[in-house]
Amino acid sequence: MSKSLRNIAEDCIDFKAFRDYLKNASGITITPNKAYLVTARIRNIMAEYQLVDLSELIKELNKNNKSLHQKVIDAMTTNETFWFRDEYPYQYFYKQLIPTWNGPDYKDSSVRVWSAACSSGQEPYSLGILCEEYKAQHGLRKRIEILATDLSSHILDRAKSGVYDKLSIGRGLSDKRLQQFFLSDCENQWTVRPEIKKYIQFRSINLLESYSSLGKFDIIFCRNVLIYFTKETKSDILIRMHRCLKPNGLLCLGSSEGLAGASSLFSMIHCKPGIIYQAK
Ligand SMILES: C[S@@+](CC[C@H](N)C(=O)[O-])C[C@H]1O[C@@H](n2cnc3c(N)ncnc32)[C@H](O)[C@@H]1O
Repeated sequence: MSKSLRNIAEDCIDFKAFRDYLKNASGITITPNKAYLVTARIRNIMAEYQLVDLSELIKELNKNNKSLHQKVIDAMTTNETFWFRDEYPYQYFYKQLIPTWNGPDYKDSSVRVWSAACSSGQEPYSLGILCEEYKAQHGLRKRIEILATDLSSHILDRAKSGVYDKLSIGRGLSDKRLQQFFLSDCENQWTVRPEIKKYIQFRSINLLESYSSLGKFDIIFCRNVLIYFTKETKSDILIRMHRCLKPNGLLCLGSSEGLAGASSLFSMIHCKPGIIYQAK
């Protein structure tokens, strides 16, 4: 290991400056004892840019070096995801929400869904698969639009491509769905079919920035991302998401996440197991 990287843990001032930079840019908080994580994740970037230590990295970032900034963000985000994660949000979506949107009392011309930290796309594509399954079984009267966003440009490109290897396909996707909704490119690679892709628009959005251009949504999936933020950031995001929901719109968080400082804005729908939040 190079001297500079070995010293990250000891280099408290620069490590703090790096943690502050990351928090301001993405909301992600790194605790002081996680120097090993930073070391592992930025080692290759430092070598690529020939930066000898953390203080040089911070100087370069502060010069507004956009490609370096994006690479650091890509490296420091955690993109763990899988198909139909936790099941209950997807069961609720299929059994309760699509039938309501499809019914006579739903008056809007289109249904709008936001997958707000979509990572490599398994969340929005799982929702698209459910829309297509519902359409085949019952017919779909309404247009369902899924906006899928993430901060990391690298992971968003992967999501847009809709191409998955054997390992990611094996996490939560049944053989039936694989055969039905994916094209097999070669032995170990599958691509999401165009009829699923057509439900989804991908866009780069930083959850710390304004959502005012996004319009209003019937449901927001903001899952397994708030865990990386401080309580203040969480509550700021949830308050602003509440403003983006249609009346009685819904919010789905990760199974270990709660409403932080925004609990007065939502009521709970118990899905047994799991909770979905409804805007008051
Ligand atoms: C663990 S993944 C969650 C994926 C998916 N929602 C799920 O539950 O399976 C977290 C994602 O949040 C994204 N992320 C982190 N900070 C973000 C921010 N400030 N704005 C938007 N996305 C962010 C990361 O790039 C990553 O892809």
